[in-house]
Amino acid sequence: MMSEKPLQASCADFRDGASAPGPVHSAQKDIAVTENEPLSRHTTLKLGGPAAKFALVESRRQLDGLIQNGGQLRIIGGGSNLLVRDDGVQGTVARLSGQEFNYIRQDGSCLKVGAATPLQHLVNTAAEMGLTGLEGLAGIPGTVGGAAACNAGTRDGALGDVIIRASVMELTGASGWIEASEMKFEYRRSSLKGSFVTDLELMLGRGRREEIAEKIAAIMKQRRASQPYGRRSAGCAFKNPPGDSAGRLIDAAGLKGFRIGGVSVSEVHANFFIAEKNAKSSDMLELIETVRERVNERFGTLLELEIEIW
Ligand code: FAD
Ligand code: EPU
Repeated sequence: MMSEKPLQASCADFRDGASAPGPVHSAQKDIAVTENEPLSRHTTLKLGGPAAKFALVESRRQLDGLIQNGGQLRIIGGGSNLLVRDDGVQGTVARLSGQEFNYIRQDGSCLKVGAATPLQHLVNTAAEMGLTGLEGLAGIPGTVGGAAACNAGTRDGALGDVIIRASVMELTGASGWIEASEMKFEYRRSSLKGSFVTDLELMLGRGRREEIAEKIAAIMKQRRASQPYGRRSAGCAFKNPPGDSAGRLIDAAGLKGFRIGGVSVSEVHANFFIAEKNAKSSDMLELIETVRERVNERFGTLLELEIEIW
């Protein structure tokens, strides 16, 4: 949907007189907490045991309340980079949801976006607005908050490249906006990990809608041809070692199709580990260690895990 507003290269409108990071909804609802919530329902691998408590957080006030309660608190986005162990996790897992965290607002070439917004909705909305800079993220599942925490991306660009400010809440109770100069983004690594990201401001460029759409279509075509799309995975299991590809190394070690229990190395892309109906997280952990050992034995390269284990 095109915005009625003229494009401009600043985020001034968000900052002038706007002390709250995003939309504010005054009516406070009680926070929805479930006990022993299976995290297999909240991850793309569909594996793992329960969270002792699972909270659907709809406002900053609710998130602040959870933080003030103390105890172990984690945040989950789309669960697309996570392997949850079979015995699950202690403490509380929070998931942001609702209008206060799922929104996109435009001010010229700048977008303000809530952390629970699906990343692909952001990519497509920016494209429709004629804003360029997010095409490289086409096809990456999960939320904007998760992508900021992981600095998700491809060789065509990462989310951290376009973040100019982030609104966060800390376990210490501190909260506020962090400027780009105070953040660090590296390959699949971000200084935002460990904070609770609620909103982001992104600076994009102006482009032709047709060209942006064509670029996204080309990236999606390449992704569908080279990755096991629609299968249960958490994306690439390992980070690429400098100057090489973990997928190429696993493939060259002859491990495509290698299986342990209900999980196997994808025949399409060797750095994707696929779960099937009878899979357990313990199978995946064993597969990860076995592949790491075999690649190390063969090539002397110790692969570093990209997916996060809970
Ligand atoms: P989750 O998996 O839910 O969480 C990951 C981490 O982020 C956790 O530490 C969590 O605590 C933290 N987190 C989540 N939300 C927040 C928040 N609001 N504030 C602070 N921390 C938060 N990744 C790439 O980089 N490039 C790719 O090309 C790519 N392709 C993929 C393809 C497939 C098919 C799949 C399944 C995954 C792929 N991934 C890729 C991995 C994954 O999609 C990304 O890492 C994604 O950005 C994770 O977002 P999420 O919301 O699912 O995060
Ligand atoms: N290759 C093989 N066999 C395989 C897989 C790859 O020989 O089974 C070779 C390819 O032929 C190519 C090279 O390895 O020559 C690189 O492969 P590809 O282009 O598929 O890229 P990649 O390095 O394996 C990275 C990211 C992906 C991202 C793509 C596209 C990492 C760990 N992986 O994959 O990110 O989607 O580039 O840019 O950085 C993720 O992070 O979860 C992820 C999927």
